[in-house]
Amino acid sequence: MAGTSVRAASSNRVVSLEDPAALGSADRGGMLELIAGLGGQLLRGFDIAASTPALPSGEGVRAVVLSGMGGSGIGGDLVRAAFGSAVTTPVVVSKGYDLPGFCDHDTLVVATSFSGNTEETVAAYRRAVATGCRVITVSTGGELAALSEADGTPHIPVPSDVTLPRAALGYLGAAVVAILGAVGLLAEARSHVEAAAHALDRLAARVGAGEPVGSNEAKAVAAWIGDRVPVVWGSLGVAEAAAMRWKTQFNENAKTPAFASALPELDHNEIEGWSEGSGEGFAVIALRHEGEHPRVAARVEATRELLAGSGLSFREVRAGEEASPLATAFSLVMLGDFVSTYVALARGVDPSPIPVLSALKDRLRG
Ligand code: PA5
Repeated sequence: MAGTSVRAASSNRVVSLEDPAALGSADRGGMLELIAGLGGQLLRGFDIAASTPALPSGEGVRAVVLSGMGGSGIGGDLVRAAFGSAVTTPVVVSKGYDLPGFCDHDTLVVATSFSGNTEETVAAYRRAVATGCRVITVSTGGELAALSEADGTPHIPVPSDVTLPRAALGYLGAAVVAILGAVGLLAEARSHVEAAAHALDRLAARVGAGEPVGSNEAKAVAAWIGDRVPVVWGSLGVAEAAAMRWKTQFNENAKTPAFASALPELDHNEIEGWSEGSGEGFAVIALRHEGEHPRVAARVEATRELLAGSGLSFREVRAGEEASPLATAFSLVMLGDFVSTYVALARGVDPSPIPVLSALKDRLRG
């Protein structure tokens, strides 16, 4: 493998966003359909996780650590952001081989890996067991499921009707919500999932492949991005987590560089980098929602005005007023999932395969 390169999957056939049939046939892995099913996935994933036998007690739990990488880690970011103020026990997202030093027998560790074979997450799981943490695994199988069985730790099975981790976000994210509910850290957990599922079903009907660009926000945003590099801004909390999902979905679906950063932090560093003319070729999408801090509006406006000379193009995307922060987070996610998939198809790129990522995993496995 050394010295060889891996080309991103490209159909070389640029597809019109106005042609649902062409979009459907270019989308060979059925990504658009998987995205549209996110609400149903959340509900199913919640029910599977909530009915898992022998989940550990939440009694005396002083911290929760959500371990997982990439498509298996972002669910933790979103759930933590959505319930940051509702859950009074610290919830930490950990993306790597190790665990935070505070982990002990009063820490609940959720190790999530779609495949069950991600080396960082398996290592973190082993560390959690060795440290005496209360551990739950979430996977379609693989090493994590086998280790859970051998160690007697509870395992939440992820349905394998979806074959790509990032397209299983509903299952993976809902498992975390169900766990927080089952151990008594989050009240009314299923109601939050139901609110999110309803919001997502409504949104999917508005931005799906059959809706024309003129009345379809996701297609309109994709057309506006065109060939530029997306930069996604989200305010601290659910929009920050959603912005990271937008970035990673642009990377994996559209095979393009993309960047994400958070307000207000970016006002303290990034804005200095957008010097005169440096923004040509970049498209900033600011993710907005009703629950953001009241100063965010003023910051977006002022930032935009100050960066006018950079050549950056700006656009806002706004989540509707939702009944649950989980619904807000996942609505922003769904919109971005559709946008990145439309960008891929409009550029003649097959959204589903991730050849570079797969090659890296193969190489590291030796
Ligand atoms: O989107 C992807 O395929 C990746 O980001 C994976 O989720 C990541 O590599 C981790 O693999 P897994 O989800 O199997 O733990």
